Amino acid sequence: MTAIVIPLDPAERAAQSVAPVLIEGRGVRKTYRTRDGDVETLKPLDFQIRAGEFVSVIGPSGCGKSTLMKMVAGLLPISGGELKLSGKVVNGPQTDIGIVFQSALLLPWRTVIDNILLQAEIRGLPKVAARERADQLMAMAGLQGFENKYPWQLSGGMQQRVAILRALLHDPPVLLMDEPFGALDAMTREKMNVELQRIWMAAGKTVLLITHSIPEAIFLSDRVFVMSERPGRFAAVYDIDLPRPRGLDVMGSAKFAGYAKTLRAHFFAQGNLDAH
Ligand SMILES: Nc1ncnc2c1ncn2[C@@H]1O[C@H](COP(=O)(O)OP(=O)(O)OP(=O)(O)O)[C@@H](O)[C@H]1O
Ligand SMILES: [Mg+2]
Repeated sequence: MTAIVIPLDPAERAAQSVAPVLIEGRGVRKTYRTRDGDVETLKPLDFQIRAGEFVSVIGPSGCGKSTLMKMVAGLLPISGGELKLSGKVVNGPQTDIGIVFQSALLLPWRTVIDNILLQAEIRGLPKVAARERADQLMAMAGLQGFENKYPWQLSGGMQQRVAILRALLHDPPVLLMDEPFGALDAMTREKMNVELQRIWMAAGKTVLLITHSIPEAIFLSDRVFVMSERPGRFAAVYDIDLPRPRGLDVMGSAKFAGYAKTLRAHFFAQGNLDAH
């Protein structure tokens, strides 16, 4: 498989730090109204994510990570503050994004290619061009030859790759991923992490990844946002200064261990993050 990997040199990294802000929150908060009363889920959040950045959000279960992602996607209204995507206020479902949910959510009666092309059908994109792009993406993700298989004929990791490709088909500048690898075994998960880094570097996306795994967050991210328990707020933000592309061996480095120790300290007493 030929990978189109364009490593970021220091000059490019510097350029990225002045890239335009793509996702911006100012005082974004969320309170769910329930029959039993109001549930304050997110304290006012302030954040900026720049074009081309890979940002992970980690935090304890129930702190509001999925809520935040759904609000960025425009699938859930905010309760206060302002949320902008590409400079425009988010006030309804966004079309310029790709979303990958926790489970692959593939349609079992559709083949791999038809699951990926669903994105084009929903959006009414030209068929021939969509098919060409799907073929390119499948080659990039090492899925050639599986076009006509059904999801149940694939491994869990391959199904997740199909779900990611479906989210990439319309070439969205922003990719939102909510625990996309949560259901995978540790080894497949690491392979998928490498795969995601490759896709991100080759396709130049801005990624917001929600994860329970500290190593996954460090391995993939430019920055890691750490959330507190509900009502969630950003307790800390860490720059991950490791050269790209990152190989799995970086996980054995002293610098990686240092980041992991720092991040783990936030959750030490809570025991609700993945062990791997
Ligand atoms: N539709 C809803 N109505 C009322 N409360 C909700 C609703 N959805 C979520 N909540 C509450 O908001 C909080 C945050 O939920 P959310 O799904 O965003 O958490 P999370 O950080 O993604 O958790 P996990 O890591 O377990 O996926 C939870 O305490 C949950 O009970
Ligand atoms: Mg969640």
